[in-house]
Amino acid sequence: MVGLVGDVAIVTGAGRRLGRTHALGLAAAGARVVVNDLDARVADRVVGEIGAAGGTAVACVASVSDPDGASRLVDVASDRFGSVDIVVNNAGFMRNGYLEDIDRSMLDEVLAVNIGGSFHVSRAAWPLMKQRGHGRIVMTSSAGGMFSMSAAANYAAAKAGVYGLTKALAIEGRSCGIGVNAILPHANPLPDDNDALDDEESVQWNEENWGTPAVDDYLVPSFLELLDRRDPSLITPLVLYLASRSCTVTGEAFAAGMGRFSRVFVGEGPGWRRGDDGPPTVADIAANIDAIRATEGGIVPWDLTEEHAFLGRLDR
Ligand SMILES: NC(=O)c1ccc[n+]([C@@H]2O[C@H](COP(=O)([O-])OP(=O)(O)OC[C@H]3O[C@@H](n4cnc5c(N)ncnc54)[C@H](O)[C@@H]3O)[C@@H](O)[C@H]2O)c1
Repeated sequence: MVGLVGDVAIVTGAGRRLGRTHALGLAAAGARVVVNDLDARVADRVVGEIGAAGGTAVACVASVSDPDGASRLVDVASDRFGSVDIVVNNAGFMRNGYLEDIDRSMLDEVLAVNIGGSFHVSRAAWPLMKQRGHGRIVMTSSAGGMFSMSAAANYAAAKAGVYGLTKALAIEGRSCGIGVNAILPHANPLPDDNDALDDEESVQWNEENWGTPAVDDYLVPSFLELLDRRDPSLITPLVLYLASRSCTVTGEAFAAGMGRFSRVFVGEGPGWRRGDDGPPTVADIAANIDAIRATEGGIVPWDLTEEHAFLGRLDR
């Protein structure tokens, strides 16, 4: 059984969809939860749902894009529940467009919530976790970042950045009992029952947050058939596992959705190296491009040092 009873969890963007099901799941497993959202209506409703089910939660309305808002979440967790054991960095949104349509503010907002928010909340909770020698952080990356798609360059950059942040914090956290992993969820992109918006607001909110000019480019028919299985609550068990004391995995990323879970990783192929008979030329690159691109015989390094060791081994 995973250990969550009595732990204190912060879930960002917990008023809707994925964050909501994570907050409900953590509370049902015995954690006390700080339910964060920008929108008080949805945050309060989730706190009410948790209370009605016999759990313990408090709402904290704040923007995680703002370092002061992030610190407030940790203060609320400490003041109300005594500490922070778990941070689920879930708050995020898209501002989609083709590259020429993405202006400065569309880039800044998306980086600020996805990377900035994950950074600020983790950083605010870090000293408490370090002091107690225990912590779990679950980041929310995306297949839209790690594998990417058209008309979302800002989101792809942000979510791939979240993967980098996950790795960096996992490396720093390993010696002090802090585990950091990321999920790449697949969930229904439509508002859920907890939106607390009327129909018109709901349509507008959805267009602003998730509308994409390129949806037909990436929603292939075989995936569309899975849409009715994209219930966000099917992702939450992975979050509970990664948040638990029994999880010793760290620095990894997992795709999750439709009841399926799998590791997503960044690796390096064995590559090609010119011998010591002279510097590589452009003709060498052209002649050896298949070997340079090969993945077989590669590794998934834990960190830069392990990559360096791999390069050293190849060189012998
Ligand atoms: N839905 C999917 O299929 C999918 C796929 C890949 C990644 N993701 C990621 O999963 C996360 C949750 O997705 P979702 O579909 O549940 O999103 P959602 O838009 O339904 O809910 C996100 C919640 O975050 C809140 N929020 C936005 N900005 C915030 C801020 N600055 N501070 C605090 N709260 C803020 C919103 O008010 C909203 O309630 C996001 O990071 C998203 O990028 C979702």
